[in-house]
Amino acid sequence: MSVSVLQLLWLGFLAVVLIGLSIAPGLRRTHPHLWWCLLGYPAALIRVLLTWRRLTTNLGLAVARRPARAVVGGMAVRGDPLRPVPPRIGLPKLRRGGLEVTVRLHPGQTPDHYCETVEALTHTWRVHSVRLFSSERGFVTLSALAWDPLVAPVLPYRLRERPLRAVVGLLEDGRAWVIDLRRAPHWLIVGATRSGKSTLVAALVKELAPQRVALFGIDLKGGMELSLFEDRLSALASTRTEAARLLADLVAETEARMQLCRSVGARSVWDLPAKLRKSPIVVIVDEVAELYLVATRDDKAEVGEISTHLLRLAQLGAALGVHLVIAGQRVGSDLGPGVTALRAQLAGRVCHRVSDEGTAEMALGDLNKDALAAAQRITLAEQGVAITADTDGQWIRARSIHITPEQARRAARKHARLAPSWPGLHAADESDEGVYV
Ligand SMILES: Nc1ncnc2c1ncn2[C@@H]1O[C@H](COP(=O)(O)OP(=O)(O)O)[C@@H](O)[C@H]1O
Ligand SMILES: [Mg+2]
Repeated sequence: MSVSVLQLLWLGFLAVVLIGLSIAPGLRRTHPHLWWCLLGYPAALIRVLLTWRRLTTNLGLAVARRPARAVVGGMAVRGDPLRPVPPRIGLPKLRRGGLEVTVRLHPGQTPDHYCETVEALTHTWRVHSVRLFSSERGFVTLSALAWDPLVAPVLPYRLRERPLRAVVGLLEDGRAWVIDLRRAPHWLIVGATRSGKSTLVAALVKELAPQRVALFGIDLKGGMELSLFEDRLSALASTRTEAARLLADLVAETEARMQLCRSVGARSVWDLPAKLRKSPIVVIVDEVAELYLVATRDDKAEVGEISTHLLRLAQLGAALGVHLVIAGQRVGSDLGPGVTALRAQLAGRVCHRVSDEGTAEMALGDLNKDALAAAQRITLAEQGVAITADTDGQWIRARSIHITPEQARRAARKHARLAPSWPGLHAADESDEGVYV
């Protein structure tokens, strides 16, 4: 019996389909991005193209070119045209864990017409979510994600390393969650106990560790969290007295930088000539409330001092390369004087699950009311999920990468030699153009 080439090709095709179907579930679980490229995306692409006409007709987005009224044999006839024309779409493009398709709007249509259809699109395309944006007049882009990026954030790629920028997780729309200290110089991270604050701080430190920055830690819970990175820290304060001293030194350093800028006529450290440049400083405070606990009269004086120093660093630091990252369960005025003023200086915000409305209000209320409501919907099971807002007031849900204490310790040890000694931080190396791009 002879087998023709066509039959062989057909058998080969069937074999590929069968193999694909049998490995798909396992591949999807273990290597979701590979699964998406090899199997998920081609299937979704076919689905999008095959369903487009029916879908847009049902949703009222397809329009008739001919008028709905015609004269047939001397009689005026009205009725729905048989084949309305769907809006034209381009070929769906492969994206990380999703796809993107551009739609040319019919005359008279606006992106608003499409806003109500995202649920139907999500359902028909069998994807996790569809978002819509319009960057060019007359077009909308539909961006679909195959799965929820916040379930277990994995970064399938590395962004180009830029100084003072850290990729700490994934955003709800599938993009990388970047904490960029050049954009927002100071950050406030709030959340109830075990909501994911320290894990986020660990992700941040792990990303900053290979960069030329001086990292300082203040952790009054016995240094339990930040001591993981001790090798990479230039100093770690684990008592309030140590914290007060460290902050006083940092204020002195900041003021010295200010003098330096003034003497050469620079408006910020970024404008200093290369040979005068200084390493950026990032001061990380975990459980900030501990800093403000007052038991005795002496405590009160020390707390007052700390509060003034923090505020001073926040006010001056942005232009002088001194950054604050402050994490705590609550950052309300009840902690002490100066806290509200400090909070106002912390433009970058992250709000994890909170136990009371007041805390979310403190973190996000002055930025956006919708963000506040979204923060209150984060559940106990969603550890590491947070609402984050940047300087532009835009907010979005995000989840940090789950960094284990061992990973954090290893990253710190690996880059320990980059920790400038303190006091007297070395100036950044002249050839190191990257530091103050
Ligand atoms: N992004 C995340 N993904 C998965 N689990 C997380 C994440 N962030 C935190 N967790 C879990 O939550 C626990 C508590 O997180 P932690 O950062 O210590 O909270 P906090 O500092 O707010 O008390 C961690 O031990 C970890 O198991
Ligand atoms: Mg913690």
